[in-house]
Amino acid sequence: MVKIGDIELPDFPLLLAPMEDVSDPPFRALCKEQGADVVYTEFVSSEGLIRNAAKSVMKLDIYEKERPVGIQIFGANMESMLQTIDIVEKSNPDIIDINFGCPVKKVVSKGAGAGILKDICLMEQLTAEMVKRTNLPVTVKTRLGWDHDSIKIVEVAERLQDVGCKAISIHGRTRAQMYKGEADWKPIAEVKNNPRMHIPVFGNGDVDTPEKAMLMRDSYGLDGAMIGRASIGNPWFFKQVKHFFETGEHLPPISLAERVEAARRHLQMAIDWKGEVLGVFETRRHYTNYFKGIPHFKEYRMKMVTSDDSKDVFAAFDEVLDKFSDYQFQ
Ligand SMILES: Cc1cc2nc3c(=O)[nH]c(=O)nc-3n(C[C@H](O)[C@H](O)[C@H](O)COP(=O)(O)O)c2cc1C
Repeated sequence: MVKIGDIELPDFPLLLAPMEDVSDPPFRALCKEQGADVVYTEFVSSEGLIRNAAKSVMKLDIYEKERPVGIQIFGANMESMLQTIDIVEKSNPDIIDINFGCPVKKVVSKGAGAGILKDICLMEQLTAEMVKRTNLPVTVKTRLGWDHDSIKIVEVAERLQDVGCKAISIHGRTRAQMYKGEADWKPIAEVKNNPRMHIPVFGNGDVDTPEKAMLMRDSYGLDGAMIGRASIGNPWFFKQVKHFFETGEHLPPISLAERVEAARRHLQMAIDWKGEVLGVFETRRHYTNYFKGIPHFKEYRMKMVTSDDSKDVFAAFDEVLDKFSDYQFQ
């Protein structure tokens, strides 16, 4: 069994990665239903939360049914991060995750996200103080290092563990790599093989088939896999991996009916969450992913992404179901 603080998880849990504009409550709920063992919010700015910026505050909304859920925060200023903990706690998440891995320039230039990999002492201090500030388990998501010449992830992970971090998820790339090349899981395995490590070490980066998840478990010996892009448009990925682990076989492709049902539920949950206008608007970006691969789909996609009225979008889903009933997904 794998434990994050007192949270008990099955062997080799699958975690939904925090993803900006993707890991919203409806998407997280869908992934949870399909087997994700832990889900994370997208990153939330500590400075935004302190200013009470509406957009940041909304990112703290969580559903009961998605637990255990982690809220991920980012920032580099100690006082702001500590105040953020107090704000985040009011949403009653199960986990608070610190983003020490975002490679984007506007985050890194302020010393936050992966920027902190240039100052391991601050990374350690921030984590230590945040752990002291809350009774919730604090976890960290980070990268291998700033660049190829400064990979110290074994030492970093140990230091974070020693100040009370309860689990670490490591994306097998450096900041300099951004998303280029292949994720390297070897340094993550070194972290896991450090005899002093006792907190869960989760691997992240390029797990896009059940076979790769199995490799991460069996050949790299990691405690679980954090899955990002493979779940976009495919919340069923978690179920697909688990089925493969249990049977050694692949599930049949997800049918059009299941895809339409997921899109419908996603839209309905979004409307229930933020109201008709925002719900319709913000769910648009997900449709392409659910229906990826269908040829000559543009006309239908346009109906889904241009209407402001949910009735039209639901009608477009019905039309797709009717029109493409013979289409076989891979
Ligand atoms: C659209 C998108 C948004 C992301 N947003 C975040 C984020 O808010 N916080 C974070 O820690 N990582 C973020 N990431 C990185 C992912 O969590 C993950 O580390 C990365 O995609 C590699 O995993 P994968 O190969 O399974 O996708 C994002 C990635 C994508 C593709």
